[in-house]
Amino acid sequence: MENVFQARNKAKPLVYHLRDVVRDRASEGVTFRLRVPSLQISQGEKIALIGESGCGKSTLLDMLAFIAPPTNIGAFMFRPEIDNDSTDVARLWKKRHMNRLGDLRKRHMGYVMQTGGLLPYLTVRDNMSLSRSVMGLDASDTVETLARELGIARHLDKLPETLSVGERQRVAIGRALAHEPSIVIADEPTASVDPFAAEKIMSLFIGLAEERSITVVVASHAWRHIKRLGLRRLAHHTHRSQDGRTTETVVNG
Ligand SMILES: Nc1ncnc2c1ncn2[C@@H]1O[C@H](COP(=O)(O)OP(=O)(O)O)[C@@H](O)[C@H]1O
Ligand SMILES: [Mg+2]
Repeated sequence: MENVFQARNKAKPLVYHLRDVVRDRASEGVTFRLRVPSLQISQGEKIALIGESGCGKSTLLDMLAFIAPPTNIGAFMFRPEIDNDSTDVARLWKKRHMNRLGDLRKRHMGYVMQTGGLLPYLTVRDNMSLSRSVMGLDASDTVETLARELGIARHLDKLPETLSVGERQRVAIGRALAHEPSIVIADEPTASVDPFAAEKIMSLFIGLAEERSITVVVASHAWRHIKRLGLRRLAHHTHRSQDGRTTETVVNG
């Protein structure tokens, strides 16, 4: 019979290992604090952070993407792939090694924004190739293959403005996957499309990530259309102080 030690050895390595990470944001005398006592995300896991607007979803995602610096870090380890060593992200922030953080992000992560964030003057193909060219990779067949899988191949030579909102979100997903990242972070990627299209796009996105063993962290204000996709939902709760001047969201998982 397997003992606990063997079972643990078999577990997938952790991409993210956070302990006591905090980010404070203040504006006009009102303070928001995101507190993460403990968060562990394994390679290939699909994670969902579901919550109402303003609860801190983007704040967490931006920390996981090394876009926003934490205010306090107990521990923050990052290991994108099994072949990589763990990186001490706490140390990189402390020493202000922004270039190194940026390189890690470019190399290992794709990011999907709520409104796509496509460049209006580039064709769909060039938008999707952007993450590859930033890394010095050639265009290759990856973009064409992804476009086919996302059902947008016929739009490759068009400008984003000629596409529907849902099609643009598919392009944004394609762009986040095109440089073959090991992690994709998606901030309400389907919030601007109707619920029917949202469900379809989300399931397409998760399916593509699954095939490629990509670790996914997705934020959404609606659980409904991702419930059946088998994501692990992060626990969180929000407290507001009585005077309404301080809000704290605590995320664990
Ligand atoms: N630019 C900002 N400056 C200061 N505080 C902000 C800013 N953006 C958001 N906040 C605060 O952080 C909280 C969490 O924001 P955010 O992470 O964007 O939430 P969500 O993505 O869940 O809608 C907000 O409720 C607000 O109080
Ligand atoms: Mg947000």
